[in-house]
Amino acid sequence: MKLTLKIWRQKNAASKGSMQTYPIDGIDGDMSFLEMLDVLNTELIEKGEEPVVFDHDCREGICGACSLQINGEPHGPDRLVTTCQLHMRKFNDGDTIVIEPFRAKAFPVIKDLMVDRSAFDRIQQAGGYISVNTSGNTIDANAIPIEKEDADEAFNAATCIGCGACVAACKNASAMLFTSAKVSQYALLPQGRVEATRRVLNMVEQMDKEGFGNCTNTGACEVECPKGISLENIARMNREYLSASLKG
Ligand code: SF4
Ligand code: FES
Repeated sequence: MKLTLKIWRQKNAASKGSMQTYPIDGIDGDMSFLEMLDVLNTELIEKGEEPVVFDHDCREGICGACSLQINGEPHGPDRLVTTCQLHMRKFNDGDTIVIEPFRAKAFPVIKDLMVDRSAFDRIQQAGGYISVNTSGNTIDANAIPIEKEDADEAFNAATCIGCGACVAACKNASAMLFTSAKVSQYALLPQGRVEATRRVLNMVEQMDKEGFGNCTNTGACEVECPKGISLENIARMNREYLSASLKG
């Protein structure tokens, strides 16, 4: 395949940045999107030019590091896949592909296509954990019976990989889907109930502090989420938040 890539280039957080055009040839449909960018970067390095900076790690849909806005969609045109799992067969010979970083005030650009998503880490640190007494009397988690339905829903929420596509897809740059997944994975389990009140209040407070927008129920986050995290998690977080606020 022969393609035209329009890629956002930006030296650092302080500089302005612009779209640059790169023609590329010899792209195989079985290549992943990131492998296609590897081909481009090899060519740029051979020409003595700066390679395009983009985030990646596992390249198998697990870590949440890859984060490109491809033709206006986070993780591109395919559903339920990350950018590293997107294949070039989803595109046609002669296509022009526009590649940008995830755009949100809370995700400042570090360089080119790489953004700073440490705001998500700080939301996690505000309450995305349980405290377990390890004095020697710890009860094995598996010894507490949990309804199958609750276990399944908690597991589904826990599949969130923290990629940030939900924020990039949202016109308000809201982090409600991410935060609600993290709140839900504990709210549904008895182990998570102990700190539930403090958790939801602190995580929502941190989310607001980071500058993410509000949820207006558009649902774009759910559509673009590579892990199929459901909007039901946002409804659950809102209920948790209301009851925690009433408890004070
Ligand atoms: S909710 Fe989905 S889109 Fe948002 S961070 Fe988690 S996995 Fe990524
Ligand atoms: S590189 Fe790990 S999810 Fe894409």
